[in-house]
Amino acid sequence: MCGIVGYIGKNNAVPVVIQGLQRLEYRGYDSCGIAMMHPEIMNLEKVTGKVSELQSQLAQQKTSSPVAIGHTRWATHGPPTFQNAHPHTSQDGKVAVVHNGIIENYKSLKDGLESSGYVFSSETDTEVIAALISKAYHGNLEEAVREALSHVVGAYGLAIIHQDEPEKIVCTRKGAPLIMAVGDDEFFVASDVAAILHYSKDVIYLGNEEIGILTPSGVTTYSETDEPVDKKIHKITFNLEEIEKGGYEHFMLKEIFSQPQTIYDAMRGRLQPETGTAFLGGIDHMIGSLLHADQRYFTACGTSWHAGLIGEMMFEQFARLPCEVEYASEFRYREPLVDAKSVVFAISQSGETADTLAAIQEAKNREATVLGICNVVGSSIARETEAGVYIHAGPEIGVASTKAFTSQVTVLSLLTLKLARLMGMSKEDGLEISQAMQQLPENVEWVLKQADQIAEIAKLYADASNFLYLGRGVNFPVALEGALKLKEISYIHAEGYPAAEMKHGPIALIDKSMPIVAIAPQDRTYDKILSNIEEVKARHGRVIALATEGDTRIKEIADHVLYVPPALSFTAPILNVIPLQLLSYYVAVERGCNVDQPRNLAKSVTVE
Ligand code: F6R
Repeated sequence: MCGIVGYIGKNNAVPVVIQGLQRLEYRGYDSCGIAMMHPEIMNLEKVTGKVSELQSQLAQQKTSSPVAIGHTRWATHGPPTFQNAHPHTSQDGKVAVVHNGIIENYKSLKDGLESSGYVFSSETDTEVIAALISKAYHGNLEEAVREALSHVVGAYGLAIIHQDEPEKIVCTRKGAPLIMAVGDDEFFVASDVAAILHYSKDVIYLGNEEIGILTPSGVTTYSETDEPVDKKIHKITFNLEEIEKGGYEHFMLKEIFSQPQTIYDAMRGRLQPETGTAFLGGIDHMIGSLLHADQRYFTACGTSWHAGLIGEMMFEQFARLPCEVEYASEFRYREPLVDAKSVVFAISQSGETADTLAAIQEAKNREATVLGICNVVGSSIARETEAGVYIHAGPEIGVASTKAFTSQVTVLSLLTLKLARLMGMSKEDGLEISQAMQQLPENVEWVLKQADQIAEIAKLYADASNFLYLGRGVNFPVALEGALKLKEISYIHAEGYPAAEMKHGPIALIDKSMPIVAIAPQDRTYDKILSNIEEVKARHGRVIALATEGDTRIKEIADHVLYVPPALSFTAPILNVIPLQLLSYYVAVERGCNVDQPRNLAKSVTVE
């Protein structure tokens, strides 16, 4: 979603904020802007389009300022126009606000302000905040912010400056991410550490409704009840290089190719190959609750929801523990049968997804035990859950999730192994699974070697308008994930189906212009999928099959075959998704799409 960066300190704030915005551009990227404070006057620059355009605009003016706040926008209220770009100012031009989130009651607030004569210049919800702060201002910005926000319903991460207090940035959050960072006589606020990592690794996580005040001499924080709070400084352990492209053309490709390492990192110190089990330190004390719960849920969105579907199948097949998967966005509104005897797992790469956070809140209200599987350390979901497991995939920059998915499934596999062994899986079976998991990084490496072949196939199908992905059992969520990846980055309509469902409807779509991706490893449904492929061929559909290394039979019927090493159903989803990630990547590149920043999408969806 939107990105926020603010700077106050001994140096020129402008290049710091611009560089920070560039690092956040992957979150939202339809327009951007900056407000700069000079002792007497506040300056504003905005553009519709990329941060690079804002940068050249500022370069022409040679602007310099010790205090600035900037924003890169992903439109929610009003189209991406100059008027709607942030920062938004109050009518008198004294207050400037950058905002990430949604103000749910903005319409009634706006109507009220308008009826008292206030004139708005944008269609955004954010401008209402600037107006409220201006109205509440009597010489102290933090007090005005507190008063203004007491009228607001919704989610926000905010950074605010006021012309009458030029040496101050006030920031606060509720439901949306915001951190502060401490440098050497310089202080930062950002919606994501990536924005300021170049300057500081000493980060303060702001709690919900806490207020942070940045001045040239330091940072102070007040609790939601306005008590001063002594906040801990956290040291960030990852490097800037980890969020740079490292020689790859796109972040997505880099992230796909990093999977042998990220999968290994997800297992490191957790898989216990000598005893055929796993140890997950973060939730080890919760294993009893998981085993004895009346019901277990996974809740998540998008790709993380697909990981949840795989988790469900593994829990039920191997640990024989019943489990449900819920879209986080539905969970809250459908009166789920969740109570104090339920365990709810929230799965999220970013740890900031608003729908997932809302589902967590719903589960907590119903007194369930809520656990997390997250990538971003210190994220809201990591903090809102009772306990959890980090997937350790490192920063994921490409908007389409790849390495986070395989790491989520790796963690779910470890958890399943642990539970399954406790539920009676034999040591022998546990050892076999552990061995297969140990081989995963090497096997993923093997699959990645087919990238060139996949790129060639992609060229043949880049002009397709539709794709169908078919898979059975644990490969059905893989088919869903393959279809989601393709539609996200190439804008080709794609659907995933359980293979046998094809004959109940989608078969009507098949003709010679319809490519079908059939996930057909040699498992117990192999013969059935071969029959499905025959059905497609009989209707002149074109088939790209994913098959087990050495399978020659499938070569005779499919148009193209992509091979994966033989795998247990435990490790199959991780291996099978990799060629599908590559296929969507190369199709999107062939179509000239912006792979890392596909239109209309955002990396972390911090609005409901
Ligand atoms: C797909 C994708 C999205 C996310 C979804 C949840 O490539 O990235 O579907 O998976 O928005 O995000 P997280 O996992 O951050 O909660």
